[in-house]
Amino acid sequence: MEAQRVNTYSDGPAAEGSIPSYPVASRYLLPPLCDTQSPVTEQYRSIKARLDYLGRVGGKPIQTLVVTSPSPGDGKTLTTLNLALVLSQDTSREVLLIECDLRRPSIREHFSHRPDVGLVEVLNNEVKLSGALLRPEGSRLLILPAGGRTDQPSELLSSMKMQRLVEILRKRFHHILLDTPPVLLFVDADQLAAQADGVMLVVRSGKTQRKAVTRAMEIISKHPVVGIVFNDMRPTPMDRYSYYGYDYRYQDRKRR
Ligand SMILES: Nc1ncnc2c1ncn2[C@@H]1O[C@H](COP(=O)(O)OP(=O)(O)OP(=O)(O)O)[C@@H](O)[C@H]1O
Ligand SMILES: [Mg+2]
Repeated sequence: MEAQRVNTYSDGPAAEGSIPSYPVASRYLLPPLCDTQSPVTEQYRSIKARLDYLGRVGGKPIQTLVVTSPSPGDGKTLTTLNLALVLSQDTSREVLLIECDLRRPSIREHFSHRPDVGLVEVLNNEVKLSGALLRPEGSRLLILPAGGRTDQPSELLSSMKMQRLVEILRKRFHHILLDTPPVLLFVDADQLAAQADGVMLVVRSGKTQRKAVTRAMEIISKHPVVGIVFNDMRPTPMDRYSYYGYDYRYQDRKRR
């Protein structure tokens, strides 16, 4: 799939990323946790570097970032999770991922222990924030999962309660990443992006249609779009991750 480069954030370059297709052997084995030196992890690091750059040229760090995509299954959740893990590997930063996809939550599938409370219960004052946060083993990342079902996901996400929660969390975290439902199907991502510092679009190679990307861009371009992540790319010989190969370690030869 070809997609046009977008450049709508403070006239700076777009935070493009190119995430290769990688073997998802187990949902629990996320590249930034199990293979910090892998070319896949490095691709997420390059998105992090772009975000930092955009924050510098824009004069304001991108603290709250909405991650969305045109359609279901483009890779929003996996991208948000891996990017959040990479951001949290910088020990000077506190990072929170909020699962704002209350319609088809899937973060819990990445944990052997399945949480049953989360954002919905926190917003409904049924549980304290501290009682709903998760920390993936071996990481510094905190995750607020979606929690239980709600009949009114858009109303809850656009409520004053949600805005107040994010305001409080902004004082505590350097980065807050919001995983959302597909922007072509639901208004949730658009509403959340109106309150955020940036929005990032994930498109899936070989799946997302060009017109879906165009329509999604039309919807989100009223917000600060930081760029497009091209997910599930089949490497060409010129790609870094293809050239080095999945098992290659670029390091001092003596140590190999
Ligand atoms: N780069 C990739 N390489 C291999 N598998 C991937 C990649 N990106 C996503 N997947 C797989 O595709 C599936 C969908 O990914 P994910 O759940 O992140 O998409 P999503 O956009 O959040 O979906 P939904 O719209 O249902 O929330 C998952 O099984 C995930 O492991
Ligand atoms: Mg998802």
